[in-house]
Amino acid sequence: MLVLGIETSCDETGIGLLKNKKILANLIASQEDIHAVYGGIVPELASRAHASRIDNIFKLCLKKAGCKPEEIDFIGVTYQPGLKGSLLVGVSFAIGLGYSLGIPVYKINHLHAHLSANFLNPFLEFPAIGLVISGGHTEFFYLRDHLNFTSIGKTLDDACGETFDKVGRILGFGFPGGPIVEKEAKKGDENKIKFPITLLSKDSLNFSFSGIKTSVLYYVKKNGLKNKSDICASFQKAIGDVLIEKTKRVLKKYPVKSFLVGGGVIQNEYLRKRFQDFFKSQKIKFLFPPKNLCIDNGIMVSIFTYFLVKNKIPTPKLKIEVSPTI
Ligand code: KG4
Ligand code: ZN
Repeated sequence: MLVLGIETSCDETGIGLLKNKKILANLIASQEDIHAVYGGIVPELASRAHASRIDNIFKLCLKKAGCKPEEIDFIGVTYQPGLKGSLLVGVSFAIGLGYSLGIPVYKINHLHAHLSANFLNPFLEFPAIGLVISGGHTEFFYLRDHLNFTSIGKTLDDACGETFDKVGRILGFGFPGGPIVEKEAKKGDENKIKFPITLLSKDSLNFSFSGIKTSVLYYVKKNGLKNKSDICASFQKAIGDVLIEKTKRVLKKYPVKSFLVGGGVIQNEYLRKRFQDFFKSQKIKFLFPPKNLCIDNGIMVSIFTYFLVKNKIPTPKLKIEVSPTI
């Protein structure tokens, strides 16, 4: 079974080809250079860049995989959540391709896809808890199996990656700030500054990150930018404290066999280690994807599509409706 995955929900054009459970190609065209000048993603520029690149990335992906378009059996495409104009480029491309090849097109939820980046891991067992930590989302899901996801908690304000990016901006770093904050934090002392964290009510599984960002802003206004490394390390520690505390809470409420993390932020090695250290004392498998499957990519969409097809579950497909008057 050859599955093409298309991802254009934000600022990465991702195309992947998965043959059964083997990754044949996973190409990602980042738009970081386009948006960096503006200090954040400009939606109109994002959709234009997707539109001008998607065809080439698709062809390069086929070349890398050594496949012909006619060999593709199924297409999966991210249809929500995301930037409307960007999503439209991927969905239109997928529908056109599916129509011309006469094959089904499956619409895939971006957050489910982020977590499914862990589905090729042979140690995965259900039920599981999934945590998505990305630029646009921070959300817990209860996973009964590969396909049944229930949202059980999410951020009430900023997403985790968004907070990294905003702190990066406060410190005068480029966009996206997340990777730069992590790099700078390596040189700093995480115990130097105590940024207050917000855990919400006692059992809440929701998140709130805007307070940490505001504390960093006030700290910088008062003390200036002299010790950027200590600020980054202390901020990163505060984020880690929130994630681990919320993980403890979710596991107390939902006894599960695995805990999965997905999304761009889990590329952060400090946060990975915080999770790994915590799970050493737990009888639960902790799974996170390799770095190239953490950021927005096409293969995670192929993986989720693969499981939809394999489980033969009637699922909403994107229908190509041609008006009889045309
Ligand atoms: O999953 P993703 O590629 O896109 C969304 O679905 O939003 O995540 C992008 C986010 C950005 O906010 C970026 O700053 C953050 O992931 N990120 C990081 C790191 N690498 C990427 N945050 C912290 N540390 C990193 N090393
Ligand atoms: Zn994402």
